[in-house]
Amino acid sequence: MAEVHLSQVLEIEKSSFPVPFSENLFQMELRLSVAHMYVGVGGERVVGYFDFWHIGPEIHLINIAVHPDCRHQGVGGQFIRFMIDYAKGHEVKEIYLDVRESNAVAIHLYERFGFKAVAVRDAYYEDNKENALVMELRL
Ligand SMILES: CC(C)(COP(=O)(O)OP(=O)(O)OC[C@H]1O[C@@H](n2cnc3c(N)ncnc32)[C@H](O)[C@@H]1OP(=O)(O)O)[C@@H](O)C(=O)NCCC(=O)NCCS
Repeated sequence: MAEVHLSQVLEIEKSSFPVPFSENLFQMELRLSVAHMYVGVGGERVVGYFDFWHIGPEIHLINIAVHPDCRHQGVGGQFIRFMIDYAKGHEVKEIYLDVRESNAVAIHLYERFGFKAVAVRDAYYEDNKENALVMELRL
């Protein structure tokens, strides 16, 4: 991901999350050395993006979204596969992520790749006080 992608990324972000990340936050992430940010593109069009932090033996998935018109075509799965392959190539032992308890599509996607729920963060999301599931993949 680069600055040039941000307008399209922000459109997808707004249509994907009740509390979207701001442009400022994406710009800060782009400058953060631990953050690895990628876009999936079809021609000039951004179809989705993801962002993970690599810190020592751990990866934390920070954000992942696919354009609503491009979902259910395997793009999200390709992003997760890319992150796992990166992890295997960099001696990463664990990948963690937080997901809303009600986000069945995302939970199912992570489970397909072997992630398991290991903890619950009560009332983690400010907007509706929803719980977060913490999911982990051990490599
Ligand atoms: C979660 C998200 C990233 C998944 O992206 P996606 O590109 O739709 O993911 P995939 O296409 O790889 O998989 C989604 C479903 O499509 C199915 N699928 C994949 N390829 C397919 C194909 N060629 N034909 C039909 N279905 C297909 C998958 O089996 C999966 O279905 P399942 O959950 O019933 O198994 C997307 O729904 C999204 O952006 N959601 C909003 C943001 C969000 O919630 N992010 C997660 C925050 S933790």
